Amino acid sequence: MRTPLVAGNWKMNKTTAEARELVATILAPLGGIAGVEKVLCPPSTSLPVIAPMLTGADIGLGAQNMHWEEKGAFTGELAPSMVKEFCGYVIIGHSERRAYFGETDEHVNKKLRAAMKAGLTPIVCVGETLDEYESGRTGEVVSRQIKLGFASVDSASASRIVIAYEPVWAIGTGKASSGENANGVVRQVIRRALSEVFNENAAQSMRVLYGGSVTGSNAAEFFSQPEIDGALVGGASLKADEFVAIAKAASRP
Ligand code: 13P
Repeated sequence: MRTPLVAGNWKMNKTTAEARELVATILAPLGGIAGVEKVLCPPSTSLPVIAPMLTGADIGLGAQNMHWEEKGAFTGELAPSMVKEFCGYVIIGHSERRAYFGETDEHVNKKLRAAMKAGLTPIVCVGETLDEYESGRTGEVVSRQIKLGFASVDSASASRIVIAYEPVWAIGTGKASSGENANGVVRQVIRRALSEVFNENAAQSMRVLYGGSVTGSNAAEFFSQPEIDGALVGGASLKADEFVAIAKAASRP
């Protein structure tokens, strides 16, 4: 049994004052939903502000990115130990990091191994672009992202890793994948690649989320798919009622 997980990726939105306001609104309704792991991933400036608000609330906190080195001359970056001060989770390899900040599968691999070493729960993003989707290369692209991104990770601890399948063409476009299409990619590409990198048991134990234009209205379509264990939510995670509705839809008490 894989516990469902719903994570909100706030991306570059909300000052600390705005973040505090959203968390104050969402705290009781979100924290009260059983049978699903809930995680908020605000900008890093808000992590120390939000962390104390979540004490005892059954809501996890995650960073949107981190560096793989433990310390040093890496201007603008956060080390795993710095993330760990406030967070239990970290998003790795988001398509926006790959597209705008030059992140490669090799970087993803270094970050993933550093997150595992730091005791964080990594949420590793994979997904094909529109061009790759239209030219029928989804399987090849996503499988490569997994094989390179997950290389040399200990299979004994693999079940801690969370994967987010986020087709780039569905992110922020309002054009979500169908539940059936996403389920097919998770079953035929993602779990297959995971079982090659690790083993079948590990592949079946790892949670795979869907991300890309998930809303309170379409969430149930994804969560009714057998291979989809939750969602990584962007835009809709900035609205308290939407995010609560998504978490409710994912709940398996
Ligand atoms: P949207 O939900 O805004 O499409 O963003 C998805 C995403 O990128 C989450 O990481």
